[in-house]
Amino acid sequence: MADLDAFIARLPKAELHIHIEGSLEPEMMLALARRNGVTLPYASVEAAREAYRFTQLQDFLDLYYRGMSVLIEEQDFYDLTMAYLQRAAAQNVRHCEIFFDPQGHTERGVAFETVIDGLWRALRDGERIFGITTALILCFLRHLDEASAERTLDEAMPWRDRFIAVGLDSSEKGHPPAKFQRVFARARSLGLLAVAHAGEEGPPEYVREALDLLQVQRIDHGNRALEDPALVARLATERMPLTVCPLSNHRLRVVPDLKAHPLRRMLQAGLMATVNSDDPAYFGGYVTENFLAMQQALDLTREEIVTIARNGFLSAFCDEATRQRHLLAFDAFLKE
Ligand code: ADE
Ligand code: ZN
Repeated sequence: MADLDAFIARLPKAELHIHIEGSLEPEMMLALARRNGVTLPYASVEAAREAYRFTQLQDFLDLYYRGMSVLIEEQDFYDLTMAYLQRAAAQNVRHCEIFFDPQGHTERGVAFETVIDGLWRALRDGERIFGITTALILCFLRHLDEASAERTLDEAMPWRDRFIAVGLDSSEKGHPPAKFQRVFARARSLGLLAVAHAGEEGPPEYVREALDLLQVQRIDHGNRALEDPALVARLATERMPLTVCPLSNHRLRVVPDLKAHPLRRMLQAGLMATVNSDDPAYFGGYVTENFLAMQQALDLTREEIVTIARNGFLSAFCDEATRQRHLLAFDAFLKE
């Protein structure tokens, strides 16, 4: 429905699940490869897009880590982040919480400081230029060991005030949340909030571990929690936000097709579902395209769309004054 499409585009949105390295569009990837003298296996932008034929998480991750190898200088991280913020602002994203994968950079010799300085400078400029509010979430790569995560947290300490939470991403199967219990406990003792990817490819048990062992405030994805009714009831009672990423789920075959996506079932079960883009440069859409894909596949109503978008602001890690400001603007938009 064309008027719902326009409504989705104009609706103020919060994005809570976006990997900044996953917003690296092939155009910028090739330009940075040239700028930094990095060799990529893609001769053109079209060839890069053509190579994005993954059908499961690990195949995607292999391309994602290769893609981020062009990010070397502070300016690269700045340019990447500014490009995302510009697109997000154009889609009426009013608040975003951005994941970054420091180990994806430090493991190949880029200093933590280079990464955080580029991201941070872009967030400051982006907030000023686009009037958007932002926060950073430092993610640990779960295919690496906990000692590496501990070292990363140590390295990040001089910039403790620049991120609000820690997260857990990368290859889920075989790397349960339990593996990172100690580093998450230390992060929490430092006043950091916590999130974790769970139930994307991994079983419902990983969602329970994220809740019980990592004590997260949000679950990233969480799709497979629906296999466990008692877990669904718990997530609903606790009003635990799920940062759902429909186009990602489709491209990584977490769902067989978009019409089978559980988003409406999540809402009907009383779950606090939000819609996000995950890795927009790889999965074919930013947050608006994710809302549009769900509206079209599930025939979402205006009311459902409003609930999902409001859930984003309700689930954000911003201070209460900022949340109230965003919610007031959201309600004012709905009255227009
Ligand atoms: N890193 C970037 N995108 C991811 C995803 N969808 N799942 C796990 N790790 C990721
Ligand atoms: Zn993700």
